[in-house]
Amino acid sequence: MRGHVPIMRPGQTDDLESVGEATPFGRSVSRMFAVLFRPEMSRWRFRIGLAFFMTVGAKGLSVLAPVMMGEGINALTGDADAGARIGLAGFSFVALLSLFAVARFLAAGLPMIRDAFFATVTQDAQRLIAVDAFRHAQHLDLQFHLTRRSGALNRIIDRGVTAMEYLLRFLAFNIGPTIVELGFAAIVLALLYGVQFSMAAIVTVGVYAAFTITVTEWRNKQRRILNEADTRLRGISVDTLTNFETVKSFAAEDREAGRYDSALREYNRHYVTIMKSLAALNGGQEFIMTGGLLAVAILAGYGAVNGNMQVGDVTAIILMLFNIYRPLNILGWAWREIKQGTVDIEKLFQLMDRKSEVADAPGATVFHADTGAIRFQNVRFAHEGRTSGIKDVSFDIPGGAFVGIVGPSGAGKSTVLKLLFRFYEPHGGAIAIDGQNLADVTQFSLRKSLGLVPQEVVLFNDTLRFNIAYAHPDASDDEIMLATRRAQLGDFIKSLPSGLDTRVGERGLKLSGGEKQRVGVARAILGDPPILILDEATSSLDSGTEEEVQTALREAARGRTTLAVAHRLSTVAGADFILVLDDGRIIERGSHDELIALNGVYAELWGRQSGGDNQSFSRNAMTPQFAK
Ligand SMILES: Nc1ncnc2c1ncn2[C@@H]1O[C@H](COP(=O)(O)OP(=O)(O)O)[C@@H](O)[C@H]1O
Ligand SMILES: [Mg+2]
Repeated sequence: MRGHVPIMRPGQTDDLESVGEATPFGRSVSRMFAVLFRPEMSRWRFRIGLAFFMTVGAKGLSVLAPVMMGEGINALTGDADAGARIGLAGFSFVALLSLFAVARFLAAGLPMIRDAFFATVTQDAQRLIAVDAFRHAQHLDLQFHLTRRSGALNRIIDRGVTAMEYLLRFLAFNIGPTIVELGFAAIVLALLYGVQFSMAAIVTVGVYAAFTITVTEWRNKQRRILNEADTRLRGISVDTLTNFETVKSFAAEDREAGRYDSALREYNRHYVTIMKSLAALNGGQEFIMTGGLLAVAILAGYGAVNGNMQVGDVTAIILMLFNIYRPLNILGWAWREIKQGTVDIEKLFQLMDRKSEVADAPGATVFHADTGAIRFQNVRFAHEGRTSGIKDVSFDIPGGAFVGIVGPSGAGKSTVLKLLFRFYEPHGGAIAIDGQNLADVTQFSLRKSLGLVPQEVVLFNDTLRFNIAYAHPDASDDEIMLATRRAQLGDFIKSLPSGLDTRVGERGLKLSGGEKQRVGVARAILGDPPILILDEATSSLDSGTEEEVQTALREAARGRTTLAVAHRLSTVAGADFILVLDDGRIIERGSHDELIALNGVYAELWGRQSGGDNQSFSRNAMTPQFAK
């Protein structure tokens, strides 16, 4: 696509949807600056102070330099009072011009030195904010993460942190100092040459800023329209090129070219508007500045003619105004960056202000597992935006028992397990483990005591060691290998040339389904949780692989309370007891034999499954050893 380069600036994305949104500017900016004063930043106090003084000092020198130049010229033209205005009476032309040179050099050089040493501070402040936001996002409830695309979260943090850098740069080191300079200059002009020059400078800058901001706001709107036209244009070209068969079969090639042509014309029209308005903006800015300079020159010339002013004074005033006007040429761009930056940082702060739906109660205690006895008491829960869910579920699992949960898909089996993890808060009733209500303990201590093997184990794109040790990061290689052997993964790892250092690929794609599941089992074994939760841990595997994983799971379940959701009834037939869940209610409960004798839903399902493709699976697959 054409025409993008001239309208894109570095650091600017083409996503301008949010430009122009009203945000509490002052609040987010002061919150951003507050980061500089956090205790973690205290080691940068000196640098921050130094940067402040260097910035103000540079501006002071930048205002004084033209005065020195002016006095130097006055000395040259033989004015007896040359230098007296600034307490340098009797200084020669060369001395005054040398002072001018030094002042000018420092005015330009100090900000560069500052930028060099302040980068560390900015980076550190950015890191603080980024880590804060990242940690906060990690701690937010599961529901939040489920409803948010991870890319979007990433973008919010990324953009917010970048925004911080350019807000600091523009506000603290550009716009702010320019305002300071204008203030200094107004004072110096009024004291040395007359208040009319201060007025002229202030009015010119005011008109300039108002004009720039108004035009930039208008251009932002045009830019959004241009982006929409661009999206339409892309849409048409991609759509027709992928639909070539339809286009051809309707002999519509020329019609499509026509459609493309008119979309392109539309785009070009808006593009030209943007370019014209840029020219108008720049032209207008020049007009205002030159007008201001002309007014000041006339005022000064008038003073010179009347004999109140020297040639050097006129030079000094004009030079001073040039200095003030110079940084203004980026005002339009800076304004847009600042606005976008405020929007970005506001979004980041919104994320950081978001409260987790599941939060530790004030004074939450540390959970201590004993035997791992689980009690659900009249638990009710419905997912956001759903009417049905868990309806009044009660059960008691003695410590160390093996319990199966079965039922049709969507019955709420996984939801029961998630409630146990306290990923969601029950809407009614209570869940307790070993007599401790989940609502009263910290999430950290609770989840440390629970191990989960889900239907599909998802792995980090790292080594096997990293993934297995995730439950217990300081485990030794011996401990890891022991866990892998118990998870029936020992031989597999031995067969790998890099062993535990083998990388598993994105989401574990370089492993087979069965291997991935066994990595999940090894991880659970290594974590050694008192309670193990299996959510259809073998449902996605073929029967050969399933058997291997079942063996691993049997091993993992030994000596702990185990809650196993199973799709295939055979995998839980050996359980101490089985809960049959349907539409959020427990409709049957008991041991396999009791449920068969009951001749209800379970017995019917059993009959269907053992008659169908699961024939090879006797209930011996999970024989008594599994139970304990
Ligand atoms: N995060 C969620 N948001 C909204 N509804 C959900 C969510 N997770 C599950 N559900 C719904 O809750 C019901 C129970 O789901 P689930 O517990 O996963 O069933 P099961 O594990 O028994 O197949 C289903 O109707 C499902 O659509
Ligand atoms: Mg499920």
